[in-house]
Amino acid sequence: MVSYKELGLVNSRELFKKAIEGKYAIPAFNFNNMEQMQAIIQACVEESSPVILQVSSGARKYANQTLLRYMAQGAVEYAKELGKLIPIVLHLDHGDSFELCKSCIEYGFSSVMIDGSHFSYDENVALTRKVVEYAHQYDVTVEGELGVLAGIEDDVVAAAHIYTQPEEVEDFVSKTGVDSLAISIGTSHGANKFKPEQCTRNADGVLVPPPLRFDILEAIEKRIPGFPIVLHGSSSVPQQYVETINKYGGKLKDAIGIPEEELRHASQSAVCKINIDSDGRLAMTAAVREVFATSPEKFDPRQYLGPAREELKKLYRHKVVNVLGSAGKA
Ligand code: G3H
Ligand code: 13P
Ligand code: ZN
Repeated sequence: MVSYKELGLVNSRELFKKAIEGKYAIPAFNFNNMEQMQAIIQACVEESSPVILQVSSGARKYANQTLLRYMAQGAVEYAKELGKLIPIVLHLDHGDSFELCKSCIEYGFSSVMIDGSHFSYDENVALTRKVVEYAHQYDVTVEGELGVLAGIEDDVVAAAHIYTQPEEVEDFVSKTGVDSLAISIGTSHGANKFKPEQCTRNADGVLVPPPLRFDILEAIEKRIPGFPIVLHGSSSVPQQYVETINKYGGKLKDAIGIPEEELRHASQSAVCKINIDSDGRLAMTAAVREVFATSPEKFDPRQYLGPAREELKKLYRHKVVNVLGSAGKA
């Protein structure tokens, strides 16, 4: 067993408290390789933002649990070397069992999500409660989820949103003891969050998706004032990446994300953690495809992963400065 405290990581409790008071959100960026981790740390150190390094169960299998533990420790040391020890959380994204959450805690995670949202309400409560009881012994914070996001989460696919029911949140939070709650108000995972026929066109001809259900968020905030809320599925799917990918041989169709304006608005509420994965995937893929297409003679991975890392860093800096408002809050 290694405690996250020995690795120099922090849990999310204090960060969320400050984020709600300060009306900004902490970025939760998914990673599973070195270049992504370097880009996240470089961007957040340069912008002095706290950060949540987020690992899905698939990412953990891909990267290896032992390597991840040392990468997280490396991230802390790397931030110091770059000149600023920003608060860094290592968080399990969409944990689907007690055993996985326990194992992550034993390998140095400072925060875990137990996602029981696909179970019945009572099963969700029981599973989440069990994880909280274990995690809190080690001062590890726990995120639960109520409501189901449409789209793909690891192997689970939901055809439609099941919005969070505000009348359930007080009971869920008090019975489980969770430290934060992920809710469903219209975001979804992946790069295809809306169908074009669900959208309208603005004056510039840009597709505008249906608005998020801020009425549900407000009703939740009224019932559990000041309680940390999490938004999953919050990539904005920048169209310049989609265009670059398709220009250089990709086949992305109808890729539409959450408008940044809505995320800016959410960041000023009790939403204090915003999950972004797909935008990073798009940035990396666009950069790699461009190198492959325009410089076919290159074959040193540093020649395409280097530009991909630069593009990622640009994206993350943009998010913390212009969308989440976490720059300068470390
Ligand atoms: O919520 C899902 C995250 O984007 C992680 O995706 O399970 O493919 O690593 P993944
Ligand atoms: P996106 O697919 O919108 O990036 O969402 C990521 C996420 O919610 C990870 O848990
Ligand atoms: Zn998610």
